[in-house]
Amino acid sequence: MNRPRVLVSRTLPRQVEERLEQCFVVIRQRHDRFLRTIELVETSQGADALLVTPVDRIDADTAARLPDRVKVIATYSAGHDHLDVATLNRRGIQVSNTPDVLTDATADIAMLCLLGAARAAPAAMQWLREGGSREWSPLDHLGLDISGRVLGILGMGRIGAATAYRAHAFGMIVRYWNRSTVEHPLPFETHPVGSLDELFASSDFLSLHCAYSAETHHIADRRRLSLMPRKGVLINTARGELVDEPALLSALDSGALFGAGLDVFANEPRIDDRLRNHPRIFALPHIGSATISTRIAMGHAAVDNLIAFFETGAVRSPVHPVPDGRTTPEK
Ligand code: DGY
Repeated sequence: MNRPRVLVSRTLPRQVEERLEQCFVVIRQRHDRFLRTIELVETSQGADALLVTPVDRIDADTAARLPDRVKVIATYSAGHDHLDVATLNRRGIQVSNTPDVLTDATADIAMLCLLGAARAAPAAMQWLREGGSREWSPLDHLGLDISGRVLGILGMGRIGAATAYRAHAFGMIVRYWNRSTVEHPLPFETHPVGSLDELFASSDFLSLHCAYSAETHHIADRRRLSLMPRKGVLINTARGELVDEPALLSALDSGALFGAGLDVFANEPRIDDRLRNHPRIFALPHIGSATISTRIAMGHAAVDNLIAFFETGAVRSPVHPVPDGRTTPEK
């Protein structure tokens, strides 16, 4: 049987590349960078499947222009807001993602962001790098305790729950809001709140774990940020567009919020310099899943999905649009 032809948009870990070569005829692009719409359509000619990453956007227009031969798209990510799943499914193209394998790595980064922002790490590190040599002082580099404080989790999916679990071990009190009933049992006492506003108003620390969609665009907007307790901290490891960034900057500059821990930004990689350089923002360049073993596991999960599709006609971890056309909300 002829091996299926798979367009692979980026260079993946060696083990994954080797497996791809064994199982498929791999179509590569010349440079290791995201595919522009036109390139994506052009390089997909002759492909049966695409293996893409979160920076390769397939909107409704691009989805409509993909060749009929393409029957499956595996994204190398848990998030799938870069894909118009409804249009792809209508065209008979199945879509899969890589949930589960990146849960722990991403929850670790959420805790790093939480601790980095709470302990005012960016300003302290900058002081050190700039040669700060003043002797130890009782009043320098003061941050916040996290033990005994409330962590609000917005989106108690896999990553939200893993972050809650870690925060609980640090002595935090966990509250959460989730649009649907949480199916998985949490191994400690947690407190669901009745509304999003209540979550913002009662969280000393608020961590975003919902997927991005039209519905969640700027879910952390000016009004909701203003509900947070004074000296609150916002953490975002999900998608930058969940946050109204100018509103966040105003809240930080006015002292209403103490800090923010951000692994994601709107318009990556064109990150607003005011965010990247802010002394109260512990900022990372979207590295939630960036451990060696997690990135390998993500690759294998994507390959497993493609193999399952070509062997059985169905991917292993399908992504479905919700009935109104948006994709599912919790990661
Ligand atoms: C995802 O999986 O959605 C992350 O953003 C990249 O690992």
